[in-house]
Amino acid sequence: MQRIHVNPARSKGTINKNIYGHFSEHLGRCVYQGLFVGKDSKIPNVNGMRTDVVEALKAIKAPVLRWPGGCFADEYHWEDGIGPQENRKRMVNTNWGGVVEDNSFGTHEFLELCEQIGCEPYINANLGSGTVREMAEWVEYLNSDGDSTVVQRRWANGRKDAWNVKYWGVGNESWGCGGNMRPEYYADEYKRYQTFCRQYGDNKLFKIACGPNSGDYKWTDTMMRMAGKHMDALTLHYYTVPHTWEKKGSATEFTLEDYLVTLHKAAYMDTLVTRHTAIMDRYDPKGKVGLIVDEWGGWYDVEPGTNPGFLYQQNTMRDAMIAAITLDIFNHHCDRVIMANLAQTVNVLQSVILTEGDKMVLTPTYHVFDLYKAHQDAREVDCFVEAEMTECSFGSNEEHKELPTKLAMLTASASEKDGVITLTAANLNPDTAKDVQVLIAGKKPGKVTARILQGEMNQYNDFDSAPLCVEAFADFEVTDDGLVLHLPACCVVEVSIHE
Ligand code: AHR
Repeated sequence: MQRIHVNPARSKGTINKNIYGHFSEHLGRCVYQGLFVGKDSKIPNVNGMRTDVVEALKAIKAPVLRWPGGCFADEYHWEDGIGPQENRKRMVNTNWGGVVEDNSFGTHEFLELCEQIGCEPYINANLGSGTVREMAEWVEYLNSDGDSTVVQRRWANGRKDAWNVKYWGVGNESWGCGGNMRPEYYADEYKRYQTFCRQYGDNKLFKIACGPNSGDYKWTDTMMRMAGKHMDALTLHYYTVPHTWEKKGSATEFTLEDYLVTLHKAAYMDTLVTRHTAIMDRYDPKGKVGLIVDEWGGWYDVEPGTNPGFLYQQNTMRDAMIAAITLDIFNHHCDRVIMANLAQTVNVLQSVILTEGDKMVLTPTYHVFDLYKAHQDAREVDCFVEAEMTECSFGSNEEHKELPTKLAMLTASASEKDGVITLTAANLNPDTAKDVQVLIAGKKPGKVTARILQGEMNQYNDFDSAPLCVEAFADFEVTDDGLVLHLPACCVVEVSIHE
């Protein structure tokens, strides 16, 4: 029988709630139609923000939202998106689908959206094609109370109080769409730009530098060596692509082998975080610089018939498994990973929500965020899994050649808050139920309750039928030293263990 060992006496610290964060870019139907429909829309909204989507994000306690990109961030000029709508500049979104961007969703709208959701804003500013002055004045517009011309514009646009935005990204993917820079060049640019992003009042700007693409360890090493003292966090981007970037594979039509390869690639996040952390530890042994995985998730071919630049894809139980594996990894690394942002919130890549006109559907990934929400700001608890391993290979992907060819078919993590231990776990087996023994060091469980998401690996929720949802789960026995879970195939569970 597979085993999960939970030891409440050992902990790496608090699981930052921001690990459960999201990312929304001006891309396809994420911002427009997904989050924002405008005040005049027939779709129920508050000041243009879709009520159904806002309520759904509140229900999973979405803690932080990154905006406006992504690649779009390094082409975004914030002054185009403030002031009367009729005067806002129109541009063509050259990164994503070549559609007209009318800038009707700008700074004020984004911050209102965050207020409605009750989450922290994380703004990723333009280093690639913007100027130092432009970035500095955006911070001033957002956070200063001084009687300057820049702040007077904010007042004239209807906002008296400073927003005190904290999370501030200085460029996105500067090794790629953000400017194709060498790490040495970006490190200098980063230092120059961030110098002029001033602190106003009591608000302490949390400065986030662009970090590596996947396994680019040289980027991390160079950034930590050259600019580590000037940043609060470094980012990491890693997407789970089943096959190649040219032919990624379908989101819904896949074989057992595709399923296993995809989950194996998702599990690679552990290697990446471990190795980047080891480099960061050399320069920053006290762990002052956080690692922020501000883009992650599954990336497939777009749904047939949709705009290839819109990155619209369905979301199956395979995505639920990617989410469970990845969130467990982040929980285990909570001493370095302080934020993560799933790409992307609505209608783009591994979304938690899909919309079509006035309809909305919650994806299996959404339900995993629901099952895992008790981990937010809880004390991480040591959790070791003795899992059955399945042979599988990364196929033609060079980057992964050195890695073990086995995938653990059980993932788990645990935390403790207010005397309740929360254990999350997923049985990755697509068609075999498994019994799992949970051993809790030094504790006999009191009351135990559990919830489950379960389905077939290719199953998904659509606008006509949404069978996948979270349900109560009672197929377990409490024992003297823990419990035994009878997990059905392809499931994710949350188990709440009271004293
Ligand atoms: O999330 C889609 C894109 O992926 C982002 O714009 C970019 O940062 C990354 O390459």
